[in-house]
Amino acid sequence: MKTLDQINFKRLIIVSYRLPFKLVRKKDEYYAVQNSGGLVSAILSLSDKMQSLERTMPEILWVGMGEKKLSDENIHSSFRLFPVEIPRKINDKYYGGFCNNTIWPLFHYFTSSTKYDTSYFEAYKTANNLFFDKLRELIEPGDLIWIHDYQLFFLPELVRQSFPKALIGFFLHIPFPSFEILRLLPVKWREMILKGMTGADLIGFHTNDYAQYFIRSVKRILGYKVDRNYINVNNRITKADAFPIGIDFDKFHDACFVGKTEQKKKKIMDFLSGKKLVFSLDRLDYSKGFIHRLKAYERFLEKYPEWHFKVVFNMIVIPSRDIIQEYRLLRKEIEAISGRINGKYGTLDWMPLVYQYKSIPFHEMVAIYNLSDAGLITPLRDGMNLVAKEYIASQNGHYGMLIISEMTGAAVELNEAITINPTDTEKTADAINQALIMPEEEKIRRILKMQNRLKRYDIFTWTNDFFNQLEDTKKENDSLQVNFLNESTLNHIREKYCHAKKRLFLIDYDGTLTSLVKTPDTAIMNDNTRTMLEDLIADSRNTVIIISGRTREFMDEQFKDLGAVLVAEHGFFTRYPGNNWVNNAEINLSWKNRIRPLLDDYIDRCNGSVIEEKYSSMAWHYRNADEDIASIRINELKDDLREILVNEPKLQVLEGDKVLEIKSILYDKGSIATHIINNDNYDFIIALGDDSTDEDLFKIIPESGFTIRVGSKPTNARFNIKNQSQIVKILSFFSDCSR
Ligand code: UDP
Ligand code: G6P
Repeated sequence: MKTLDQINFKRLIIVSYRLPFKLVRKKDEYYAVQNSGGLVSAILSLSDKMQSLERTMPEILWVGMGEKKLSDENIHSSFRLFPVEIPRKINDKYYGGFCNNTIWPLFHYFTSSTKYDTSYFEAYKTANNLFFDKLRELIEPGDLIWIHDYQLFFLPELVRQSFPKALIGFFLHIPFPSFEILRLLPVKWREMILKGMTGADLIGFHTNDYAQYFIRSVKRILGYKVDRNYINVNNRITKADAFPIGIDFDKFHDACFVGKTEQKKKKIMDFLSGKKLVFSLDRLDYSKGFIHRLKAYERFLEKYPEWHFKVVFNMIVIPSRDIIQEYRLLRKEIEAISGRINGKYGTLDWMPLVYQYKSIPFHEMVAIYNLSDAGLITPLRDGMNLVAKEYIASQNGHYGMLIISEMTGAAVELNEAITINPTDTEKTADAINQALIMPEEEKIRRILKMQNRLKRYDIFTWTNDFFNQLEDTKKENDSLQVNFLNESTLNHIREKYCHAKKRLFLIDYDGTLTSLVKTPDTAIMNDNTRTMLEDLIADSRNTVIIISGRTREFMDEQFKDLGAVLVAEHGFFTRYPGNNWVNNAEINLSWKNRIRPLLDDYIDRCNGSVIEEKYSSMAWHYRNADEDIASIRINELKDDLREILVNEPKLQVLEGDKVLEIKSILYDKGSIATHIINNDNYDFIIALGDDSTDEDLFKIIPESGFTIRVGSKPTNARFNIKNQSQIVKILSFFSDCSR
């Protein structure tokens, strides 16, 4: 893996809803105060570290919502700030509405709190455009644009449209929900979210589950083709993968013994005077499971009275999103329950719960992390949860134990912690007791294991990993060499055609002369295309060959009276106008009896799939099957076939669009086309196709000929066209000249 300074980009442009700082006015002076939350603390430590490296690092620009004044201030030496101003009215509906009343609750599985309001959606669009307007002024060739989080889903695609070559990464800091949850959004909204995200070259998530949920939604909602983690987006590929965000491990670990932390620790120890300390620290948010946590603590006090007077729970709540009513109500509820617990168990000389509603400075936070005997992290859903990782990193000299909800991204990596389900009050109460009585050696053993993991995949490795994969995906995209046919090339082809005396057309059927449809029987050529073909065939200088994988019967039915040469079953049969069908190869077909039962099994195992038995081959079609099941079955089927084909060296498996076909290797579209080409002196040859089976054809066309593939896949054809409807236009170009 390349290190940060080896990765090839000129400047790094970070885009997030919040800039890392806000300005707070005290008397007539402005002070910069760090904004709260995981995103800001993660990216801030990263940019600090990048600039502290001895090597020269690319310049960092940070674009985010904030007052204009922020750009004038020299707030931070590591980066320049570019505030985006969002009018208050729009921001209320954008931030307070779509971001935090629609996406946030839905993506955290709070479906009943999710609001669906068109004006929120419109404000979200407007705000994303405002971010883009700022970005557009800044982007230069060679920039790496790194867009963060759910407030900016549309931005990658907006950038892509205006800067097709831009290097764009997107990272989601919250969970990505399963398809069933995402589909609660109106169709247009969910489509725009997914399309917006796929504008990036690389899309990062905290866990593999989130990445897989995303990929599945892209398949089902947008219908994009997916190969493992790679998504085919029109003429590009984009990758979705898991990058569990890390922390600046050393910053926390080393801060445990610095002067400022020691001072705080002393104060806390004086206060505790020998009592055990349990802590929690989160932004005020219903996703964090405050109510469940308080109930569990209450239950703990009830169930384990031996801890009375011996333990204090310090619950620190960082103010957040107080413009939203749900958050204000939550605060009231927290305060009521906290009051109840202290009222019930507290005495003059012992308060079991110390509740604080405020932000806390770094050294105080490290002091609490370091001294706590248990960290109680109970979100109902959390993308990652950095506090859990910071707590582990701050275990230095004194060891506590982490209790963590299995609903957090962090739980995936922190296996040695005590895992709980926050809805299980009894088990969570037991977990507090278990953490407090855990023997020292066991705590140390568990903590060191987790620390090793966090040290290895820290915030810098995380960034390296992300940037490396971003660069790789970009390289792959650059090598895709899809060369779209343009007007001037088309004119050049027609020129050649008009001057030629003997011309050959080799044209595939499905996907080329007709568009692909769910039921192949209904794939019928439209009248327009038929007229174009008739015109071409009427010109005596032209030979038109329709070269398809379909059966003879289908071809007869479709092309009776047309006067074209027909090739059926991928080159096995040919029929010249007025003649009978002839075989182009001698093959033994006894293998079909061995393969048929296997395919029958797969029909049962994959609802909606069908077998097509042709004379020379057998095909398993899964266009109408459930995508997810089919994608599993296809690999299983290929495995099973591989075993059979070991003893059938003359057979091959062809993979077409939603179809797997087993046929002999003794013929294909290329071999029959070679035969036809060699039999005459054509001075103009053109082949048109759309599928992988047409690649055999493209490969054998002489250099003087022309080859065109429908779609944006990399191909042996010289040119691509974006969609099937353009075929009619191309054919009409030629028929004009014939007339
Ligand atoms: N934090 C903060 N302000 C404080 C105390 C802590 O910003 O007063 C930081 C804390 O260090 C952690 C982040 O807030 O890095 C919280 O991130 P987490 O992933 O736990 O939750 P999120 O806020 O992203 O939901
Ligand atoms: C989480 C989100 C961030 C957000 C932060 C604070 O970490 O992933 O995008 O900035 O919470 O929330 P706020 O609404 O104050 O920006």
